[in-house]
Amino acid sequence: MVSKGYPNVINFLKRKKLKRGCEVGVTWGQQSNSILRQTKVECLYSVDPYACYPEFLLEQIHFDILYTVVRNLLSQYGSRSKLLRMRSLDAISHVENNLDFVYIDGDHSYEAVIADLEHWFTKVKIGGFLICDDYGGGHKGVTKAVDKFVQTHKLQLYNIGKRKIVIHKTPGDTSDANCQHRQQLTP
Ligand SMILES: C[S@@+](CC[C@H](N)C(=O)[O-])C[C@H]1O[C@@H](n2cnc3c(N)ncnc32)[C@H](O)[C@@H]1O
Repeated sequence: MVSKGYPNVINFLKRKKLKRGCEVGVTWGQQSNSILRQTKVECLYSVDPYACYPEFLLEQIHFDILYTVVRNLLSQYGSRSKLLRMRSLDAISHVENNLDFVYIDGDHSYEAVIADLEHWFTKVKIGGFLICDDYGGGHKGVTKAVDKFVQTHKLQLYNIGKRKIVIHKTPGDTSDANCQHRQQLTP
């Protein structure tokens, strides 16, 4: 099993000393595994339906096997890991409130990303972070959705490199701030 995650995300979580979070879209569990192995995150929800969908040309049996492999992989972390085999929005009610971060890397369509951002933002505490993968790359729907979301809510967006962006939830951002920045945030 490959255990390589994305260093930008790992470094960001470590630097901010984040403790409780969620990854939406898990696949092989590489990122969840890296987070649990390399950071002091105390509780990580990992959400993926492991179900057939058009973007992945696999049959359901392969997703079933994949789920078993990932469940076994993450079981080494005991109660720190909570693997939820369900779709992103269905998982919302199974996840605690006031998370330090949510890493969104599930369905990359515009509609799905907008829905993920809107719903998961409510699960992040003030002072917490939404992290989104594949911004500014080939997944145009992701970029469009993130831009629309930050514009609508007048939020600040930070680039941590490798097509990963962070949205910081602060009282000012969610209500009266009136600016949108794409500044570089040291990962
Ligand atoms: C790009 S991969 C995730 C890669 C993973 N984050 C990593 O870094 O290794 C996308 C995953 O999103 C999952 N996915 C698709 N639709 C989803 C949904 N509605 N809710 C949650 N996950 C979804 C797919 O099953 C797939 O495993």
